[in-house]
Amino acid sequence: MARIPEELVNSIRSQADIVDVVSDYVTLRRSGKNYMGLCPFHDEKTPSFSVNPEKQIFHCFGCGKGGSVFTFLVEHENVTFVEAVRHIARRLNITIPDTQGEREAGSEAESLARVTRFAALFFHDRLLNSDRESVVRKYAEKRGLSEETIKSFGLGYAPDSWNDLLSAAREKGIGADWLVKAGLAKAGEQRTYDAFRNRLIFPIQAPSGRVVGFGGRALSDEDQPKYLNSPESPIYRKSQVLYGLYQARDALRRQGRALVVEGYMDLLGLHEQGIQGVVALCGTALTREQARLLARYGQQAYLVYDSDQAGVRATWRAIEPLVESGLWTRVVRLPEDYDPDSYVREHGPDGFMKLVEQADSPADFMGYHANLQASGERDEVFRTLAGLIRNTSNLVHREMYREEAERRFPALQGLLASELRRASSPPGPPGPGGPGGPGGPRGPGGPGIVGRDRQATPAAPARYGDERVERDLVQLMLSDRTIAELVEGQLEPQDFKYPLYRRIVEQCLARLGDGGSYDLSGLIDTIGDDEAARVITELINTSDSGVHLEQRARDHIVRIKQKRLKESMARLMEQIKQMETGGRSSELNDAMATYMELKQQEKVLLRSARGD
Ligand code: CTP
Ligand code: MN
Repeated sequence: MARIPEELVNSIRSQADIVDVVSDYVTLRRSGKNYMGLCPFHDEKTPSFSVNPEKQIFHCFGCGKGGSVFTFLVEHENVTFVEAVRHIARRLNITIPDTQGEREAGSEAESLARVTRFAALFFHDRLLNSDRESVVRKYAEKRGLSEETIKSFGLGYAPDSWNDLLSAAREKGIGADWLVKAGLAKAGEQRTYDAFRNRLIFPIQAPSGRVVGFGGRALSDEDQPKYLNSPESPIYRKSQVLYGLYQARDALRRQGRALVVEGYMDLLGLHEQGIQGVVALCGTALTREQARLLARYGQQAYLVYDSDQAGVRATWRAIEPLVESGLWTRVVRLPEDYDPDSYVREHGPDGFMKLVEQADSPADFMGYHANLQASGERDEVFRTLAGLIRNTSNLVHREMYREEAERRFPALQGLLASELRRASSPPGPPGPGGPGGPGGPRGPGGPGIVGRDRQATPAAPARYGDERVERDLVQLMLSDRTIAELVEGQLEPQDFKYPLYRRIVEQCLARLGDGGSYDLSGLIDTIGDDEAARVITELINTSDSGVHLEQRARDHIVRIKQKRLKESMARLMEQIKQMETGGRSSELNDAMATYMELKQQEKVLLRSARGD
């Protein structure tokens, strides 16, 4: 691993000036031998944070945090110890020799970071220097973006040109291939061209502040897509980045509460109104890594997604990772047709914060959005809640969520307590003979959400879930050959229950056998089935550029396998019941043994899915 020799660390420590380093983040005043300031690690009005230049340590008399110049950076900047040492070394112009592996990985990441930094400055500069009457200025004004916001978030403008960025980069000695690698340019048949054109640019920063990617918004409705996002790269892992976290981190530490919104503009709109501690997703679902990242800064997460169907669905999926990461999780309900940006513009910061203070518990949220009249859906909500509570690592939270759930659904009283006692076994529908429910709360999308229109007749939630799983898996197979290969090793086409998806899967797998290219346009041409062809193109066109594709595929595969096992068990149990009345005991024993074996298979399946 990348270890720095002990003597070198000591030497760097002895040359570092902790007052100088801390002063980058905290305003310090001299007080006797020490320096004092407002503690960056907790909320306070009078300074109790002291820095001792003689001993080169810091200590807060309020919250008790303390340590060296390195630990200060580790805590404050969320970097590793080695990164902190390197950071100080750079300030001191001390060179730390790299290990070989580090040099290689480091150089690509560092080069990419140079490219994104260059591009961010280029875009920012274009916005700052654009004419008052220019389209982008007018657009920024219409969206209420102040000069302060533009600067704090480094917003930019990608000119309406095919090669402005490419040419500017070339002058700096940055080759087109690097822009392509960073997702800032595209290599066409004839030539390479700028990927972002005539868009308002949102640079996406890692928690360290380094620009890793970009989002770009079209300036007019005709221009599609509305948002363009740069792809993943060695420095941009979408699952590990939250937009605005870099700017929000001090507020998060102070408030302990994060507001999580869906869009760049939601975040900026709230910032304009002085609301702090906001982070945004960049067009992907909230992941466990993002939740854990948030949990490093605060203890509470409030989801404030759009009030439309898509927002409700995304909220449903975001609750679990947050709760599991130990964040106290609430859901803010916006009135119909609002998103945080439009709401705060209309009702001001006080109006918005009022909604935040009235946020719902997960149980309230689910109770509000599920159709509890449908027994399948009600069961699913109960199962989801039970799973959620069971997986809550914080024991105090666990009790509190349980109380809330029981208050909202008195029918759950007692049930949850016994659920929790069986804490180690995986969740699942009641045994065979019961309603053949889907396999637990981890599936995508949550149960069939009816949305606001409770009159609407939803598809039965169990079926909805199954269809969605098969569809998602097919989509993943289409987008990635390795996933098709994964499915080939794990499932049979017959495992897909929906004939349409089964047909597509058969064709995909047949293509794999060819050994040659996994050619999808060929697939569309030869499938000879209009409906399938239409669905394939739709799936390809709507597939997201994707994080954790393989993990998602594995989850779906497990769910499908579990479903099939459950069906076999249910059939077997029917037979067992008949045998019991018929009194055929030897057959009965065999059937029981088979049943137990299936049960065991299910256990193994779920255990392997959990990775233990
Ligand atoms: N998004 C995306 N691609 C799209 C639409 C949306 O990646 N075609 C992502 C963007 O990150 C966007 C977020 O999803 O910020 C929320 O989308 P949406 O609610 O449609 O946008 P708004 O935040 O309402 O943006 P605006 O007000 O500019 O319409
Ligand atoms: Mn929106």
